[in-house]
Amino acid sequence: MTAFHINGRAVTIDAEEDTPLLWVIRDDIGLTGTKFGCGIGMCGACTVHVGGRPTRSCITPLASVAGAEVTTIEGLDPESRHPVQEAWADLQVPQCGYCQSGQIMQAASLIKDFPSPTDQDIDAVMAGNLCRCMTYVRIRDAVKQAAAQSRKVARDD
Ligand code: FES
Ligand code: FES
Repeated sequence: MTAFHINGRAVTIDAEEDTPLLWVIRDDIGLTGTKFGCGIGMCGACTVHVGGRPTRSCITPLASVAGAEVTTIEGLDPESRHPVQEAWADLQVPQCGYCQSGQIMQAASLIKDFPSPTDQDIDAVMAGNLCRCMTYVRIRDAVKQAAAQSRKVARDD
C-alpha cells in the first residue's frame, strides 16, 4: 500500500511499488488528463508536479511518491483558470491537444522559477516537452502572457 495526496485528496493505492505513477493516476485514480507518450521520460506528455516540481510520471515509481503531494492537470487550479491555462486558451495553443497537459504543467512550473522568462529560459525549460503538432511558437507566446498575468496578480495582491 502506498499513501500520498493527489490534487489535495488523500489516496492509498494497492499496487506494486514499481508501478509507474502515470498508470496509477490514470487507471487506479481515474484522472486521464495526464497522457502517455513515450514511456521513457523523453517527451513530457506525462508531466505532473510532485512536491511542486515537474516530474515525468511515466518513469516515477509509485513508491517514490509515498507521503508526497502530487498535482495533475485536473488539480492545477480549482476552476481550470491558472494563468497558464488562461493564456493557453487565449492564444489557442493546442492543435491535437495530446501533449498539452504536460506542456501546461511544465509551463506552470517555469513561470514560478522565472517570473519574467526570456526566450532562452522558455526554450531551455520547455525543450523536453515535445509537440508533434509543432505548437512551439504559440507555447512561447503563451508562457510570456501567463508570466505577465502572474506578475500582475502578484502586484495587485
Ligand atoms: S510519456 Fe513520460 S516522458 Fe513521454
Ligand atoms: S498539440 Fe498535438 S502533439 Fe502537441
